[in-house]
Amino acid sequence: MFDFKYYTPTKVVFGKNTESKVAELIKEFGGTKVLVHYGGGSVVRSGLLERVTKTLDEAGINYITLGGAVPNPRLGLVYEGIELCKKEGVDFLLAVGGGSAIDSAKAIGYGVANDGDVWDFYDYKRKVTGCLPLGVILTIAATGSEMSDSSVITKEEGLVKRGYSSDYGRPRFAIMNPELTMTLPDYQTACGCTDIMMHTMERYFTNGGNMEITDALAEGLLRTVKTNAVILRDDPKNYDARAEVMWAGSLAHNGLTGCGNDGGDWMTHKLEHELGGLYDVAHGAGLAAIWGSWARYVYKECLPRFKRFALNVMDVEDEGTDEEIALKGIEAMEDFYRSINMPTNLRELGVNATEEDLVVMAHKCAVGVGGAMGSAKLLNEEDMLNIFRASM
Ligand code: NZQ
Ligand code: ZN
Repeated sequence: MFDFKYYTPTKVVFGKNTESKVAELIKEFGGTKVLVHYGGGSVVRSGLLERVTKTLDEAGINYITLGGAVPNPRLGLVYEGIELCKKEGVDFLLAVGGGSAIDSAKAIGYGVANDGDVWDFYDYKRKVTGCLPLGVILTIAATGSEMSDSSVITKEEGLVKRGYSSDYGRPRFAIMNPELTMTLPDYQTACGCTDIMMHTMERYFTNGGNMEITDALAEGLLRTVKTNAVILRDDPKNYDARAEVMWAGSLAHNGLTGCGNDGGDWMTHKLEHELGGLYDVAHGAGLAAIWGSWARYVYKECLPRFKRFALNVMDVEDEGTDEEIALKGIEAMEDFYRSINMPTNLRELGVNATEEDLVVMAHKCAVGVGGAMGSAKLLNEEDMLNIFRASM
């Protein structure tokens, strides 16, 4: 096993009606002037935003609001948020929504707390030295951004989608009421389950340093989400299944399922970020569409892990060669994606990319990772292009 740091400073308040605690939590963390940041309007339609602002009014907390964070959130709105916070003297950010609103809020927080162009951080030119404190009311179980150190932003010019990670960006608190996720479209619920599993799978398919305790946590999490994703397909209002998936989403990406390993593979995410940047697809669906092609491309160089995944997560029979078992595990995972109406290739995702598009995405991806990346198998630009081609 490798040495590791595990840092999860986020105070989690989980359960029914927990959003009513938002004002006391903001006060606990010192907020006096708040930017309430949200997405395209689901929190307006559900009445959540109104409940939240009423609670802030009653507690005498000053706030301003800024909506409009779209899936694959844009840099333009981040700049707008930074200006607004500086002008209004905002000292606390409250993201109400999903990964897109949270990531956009993190970027605004970096922009307020650091001089210069905030994109520099996403372009890996500089590192942040702080962030405005941030709290979250989560409305979709998916990215784990409510506890993670990551923020993913898309720059409109060139459609460049990049992630930046810093412990400064970890939220101070996360309010998680599984009932708030019940208004989600089924497609978004399934996208979320896919993303949650992928965050742990990225950390699982590695060639170094695995720990039994981490593997046991990871496999338990993957089995739990697999089971509950199917329950939610058939019974979207099932509170317990919503709760299982919501908590899994945080644990999948707060670092817990990566302790002791080599940091993870992450290439499925990097390839998906190119799809999200260029075609604006939902992140989870993009991951499902690319994973099978990635897995078939790399499994021989990470055979013990793929075999273990097949046996312990996908319930494949322990019969045949290691390669046969590993391949059955990949097939079973794709069957699972299909069972929750997720795509398993780019066409099913609705992306009809030309060869030229694939070349551009592979090139941008290679540039974004600094040439080559991956633990299951180290992938260079040619490998990335081969995986994109196989996923058509
Ligand atoms: O924008 P609104 O109107 O709120 O609608 C959203 C959006 O259309 C809707 N939605 C959310 N909660 C809802 C709801 N609709 C009805 N009822 C609710 N309760 O669902 C759609 C998706 O929301 P979004 O926030 O975009 O989803 P998600 O949480 O999946 O975030 C995706 C973004 O996060 C990035 C992705 O790349 C993508 O840009 N990621 C962030 C990570 C992180 N910060 O740690 C890690 C991930 O790997 C990922 O890359
Ligand atoms: Zn993800």
